[in-house]
Amino acid sequence: MPNSNKSYERKDEEMKFPKTSHFDAKLVRSKIMGPNTLKLCEELMEGDPIPPGSVVLDLGSGCGISSAMLAREYDLITYAADLWSDPSENMHFLESIGLTNKQVIPIKADANALPFARGFFDAVVSVDSYNYFGRDPRYLGEKLLPYVRHGGLILLAIPGMVRDCHDDLPACLLASWTPEQLDYMHDMCWWRAIFEQADDVDVVNMHEMKCTREAWEDWIACDNKYAQGDRAAVEAGALEYLNTINVALRKK
Ligand SMILES: C[S@@+](CC[C@H](N)C(=O)[O-])C[C@H]1O[C@@H](n2cnc3c(N)ncnc32)[C@H](O)[C@@H]1O
Repeated sequence: MPNSNKSYERKDEEMKFPKTSHFDAKLVRSKIMGPNTLKLCEELMEGDPIPPGSVVLDLGSGCGISSAMLAREYDLITYAADLWSDPSENMHFLESIGLTNKQVIPIKADANALPFARGFFDAVVSVDSYNYFGRDPRYLGEKLLPYVRHGGLILLAIPGMVRDCHDDLPACLLASWTPEQLDYMHDMCWWRAIFEQADDVDVVNMHEMKCTREAWEDWIACDNKYAQGDRAAVEAGALEYLNTINVALRKK
């Protein structure tokens, strides 16, 4: 159907998440802040693996559940950097599941002013966060890439739109979100144009993630007011218009 924002053809494939299944489902529900972070993270890592032992920035790590997965399941030394969450609380949680400060380093940090040495990270992972700070076309080149070593990978799972529809927002999206909130979501063409404005980086992979529906269903089943707020849109058909964009960038 040309010019439609709907993606009638898209069907989520049956997916298995062996790494995610190592985490207690109730614990996961208490830690995620949007579509199931662990499933998104696992799908990202399956597409473009980061070698064990790498030093990784989990950017916008929220309550630290994806950092726990990166450290425990993939043997990555993980800096869990987030603006809104409390690093002491996150450390307490990480220790409670057996992780140490040699595996995950929780830190309060603004993605716009990262407190690290240039070229420090072997890789960056960012799940359900990049659209908060990365929409400015100067962000990648000026504020993130300097902290990644040459050849380093940047993996992003970005909540997006199948096709930008900000001029004519469907009622199902407006059932939970304002036009201003929806302005954080864009389609793959829009994001590609943003990334292509940065020098020193190649877009090595960009596609719709397969687990979007499943990740959203896990989220709206959560018993917190944010998940319940998002439920109206999903139940009204929002996932026909929304996707998750898997991006892999490599610093030259
Ligand atoms: C929707 S939550 C996702 C959290 C986590 N990645 C997850 O999937 O559960 C978005 C996260 O982005 C973080 N964030 C927003 N703006 C940020 C900024 N400027 N610097 C660092 N983190 C930021 C927030 O602190 C929040 O934890």
